[in-house]
Amino acid sequence: MSKFTKIISSGSYLPEKILTNKELESIVDTTDEWITERTGIKERRVSSDDETSVDMAYQASIDAINKSGLKKDEIGAIFLATCTPERKFPSTAVLLQNRLNIKNAFSVDLNAACTGFVYALDIAKKYIESKQVKYALVVGTEKITSLLDWTDRNTCVLFGDGAGAMIVGSSDTAGILSSTIGSDGSYKDLLTVNTDLEYIEMKGSDVFKTAVNTLGQLAKHTLELNNLEQGQLDWLVPHQANERIILAIAKKISLSHDKIIITVNKHGNTSAASIPLAFDDANTKNTFKSGDYIMMEAFGAGFTWGSILLRF
Ligand code: COA
Repeated sequence: MSKFTKIISSGSYLPEKILTNKELESIVDTTDEWITERTGIKERRVSSDDETSVDMAYQASIDAINKSGLKKDEIGAIFLATCTPERKFPSTAVLLQNRLNIKNAFSVDLNAACTGFVYALDIAKKYIESKQVKYALVVGTEKITSLLDWTDRNTCVLFGDGAGAMIVGSSDTAGILSSTIGSDGSYKDLLTVNTDLEYIEMKGSDVFKTAVNTLGQLAKHTLELNNLEQGQLDWLVPHQANERIILAIAKKISLSHDKIIITVNKHGNTSAASIPLAFDDANTKNTFKSGDYIMMEAFGAGFTWGSILLRF
């Protein structure tokens, strides 16, 4: 068994088109002030009509592969998180594998909604640690705006498109220290895609409360699991759904604001892409230092949830 799974590199892709809160004011009955105050979101990216989750995943993956210094064919597995696949089948992961022209890998999609990337990283970790795979490409990609009802102000202001990717491999010195995932399908109707219209429907305040409670407990549990005091955590890279949710969780573990990576203001909620996008945003600025303790945590439809603690 290898001791740890290490993040070798990260990459990201955001569509060109920026949709601001001001522009949304002319689409639904909302205001920049309401969206900013209640969510922290100022703008989000929207993919073009012909841009798919595979197109975005491809760009983010190339970015991560280039930064890793690996050759594409050294990648033995692709774990791709999405709830907006390009086709029902073959999987988005297989379509990405083909676009990347990677031959000696297996590829699979995971759908855990907004928690998808944490699930994908958890599974990659298991393959790396058991030495069945040497290097894996882990991707979160979403064209989530394709599931929006642009007449529903409760949902259409919250989401955005994009993709993030990581290359992971084994290390004997540092990497993922713990990974915890969970789900409870009895909450299936609080955040769902209407099967007739294919639009997102959400009981926002119920989702909000459950997310804060679940992730607050999970963050504390993750610190305990790793024998870390609250003050020892260097960075929180949370799922970016709502700045108020993020700050409420940080408060529960007494984490100061300057230790939280926040991108929801410019990305909105990009579902499974949000954590790798936020991670890459900070990583590109060399925010993380060797030895830093970093916690990622996410919550999504299902409900699903997960947290990962790593030593950078
Ligand atoms: N602009 C203006 N008003 C809006 C609005 C918008 N875009 N969206 C909703 N409102 C209105 C509601 O209609 C409601 O009006 P009413 O009181 O007249 O009925 C009012 O604002 C308050 O709604 P409420 O749902 O109580 O607001 P909130 O403070 O809970 O914020 C969310 C709403 C959606 C931002 C918040 O509940 C949330 O972020 N929930 C979790 C969402 C999430 O994280 N989803 C993904 C999980 S992965």
